[in-house]
Amino acid sequence: PPRIRVAESYEAMSAAAAEAIARRLAARPSLRLALPTGHTPIGLYRRLVELTRQEGLRWDRARVFLLDEYLGLGPDDPGSFRRYMDEHLLRHLDPAPAVDALNGKAADPEVECARYEQVLAREGLDLVVLGIGRNGHIGFNEPGSPFQSRTRVVTLTADTRRANAPDFGGDPEAVPPRALTVGIATILDGKEIFVLAAGEAKAPAVERAIQGPLDPAVPASALQRHPKVTWFLDRDAARDL
Ligand code: GLP
Repeated sequence: PPRIRVAESYEAMSAAAAEAIARRLAARPSLRLALPTGHTPIGLYRRLVELTRQEGLRWDRARVFLLDEYLGLGPDDPGSFRRYMDEHLLRHLDPAPAVDALNGKAADPEVECARYEQVLAREGLDLVVLGIGRNGHIGFNEPGSPFQSRTRVVTLTADTRRANAPDFGGDPEAVPPRALTVGIATILDGKEIFVLAAGEAKAPAVERAIQGPLDPAVPASALQRHPKVTWFLDRDAARDL
C-alpha cells in the first residue's frame, strides 16, 4: 500500500514534501527528479528554495525533468510550464540543476516525445513528483490514457482546460488544446513517486486513485501498481479516505 501523509494545512503539506525531496537530494547529489507544474506545488517549491538556502543544498549535479508542456508554447510564453518552473524554482537555485523539458515548439512534436522518452530511459528517474487533476489525471495523462502509455502528444479534456484557464486570462478557449506529456508507464518507471494534493476539489480523485479499482478512467489509479508511492495531502484532499 502507498504511504499517506496527511498534513494539517497546505503549508505543512508543502513543507513535508520539500523536506522529503531535500533528504533525497542530500543523500544522492546526482538525483534525477521529475517535477510537476500547477497550483498545488507552488508551496513545495517555495519551501524547497528556503531549505536549499538554510541547509546549503547543492543542485549542480542533479537533473530536473518537467512532466509535460502545452503544444505550441515555449520558454518565452507566459503560460508555458517551462516558464513556470523557472519562476517558481529554477531561477532561485544557484548553482541551478541541469534541466530538460519537452519543447512545446518542436518542429516535429512526435520526434520530440521520442527524444524525451529516450533521455528519461537513459538517465533513469530516481523520484517523480506529481500533482493530480480533479479528474484523476497525472502529468497530462487524461482519463482513458493507457497504463502502458509513453511520452506522446495528447488532447486535453474540456475540464482540464477550464481548470487551467486562470493561467490564460480566465478563458478556457485560450488554453492550448493539446500537450506533450510523459506517459503513465514512463512515470511508473521512476524508482519512487510522490503525489501532492490539496483542497476538497481533489478529494474524490484522491479517493478513487488510492482506494478505487485500477481503472484507466482514473489515470492516478495506475500508481497502485508502483511499490514506492507517498501521497502528501492536506486534510481537505484526504476527506474521503
Ligand atoms: C496540470 C498539470 C498536472 C497537474 C494538474 C493539477 O494541468 N499538467 O501536472 O498536476 O494539472 O494542477 P493543480 O495543482 O493546479 O490543481
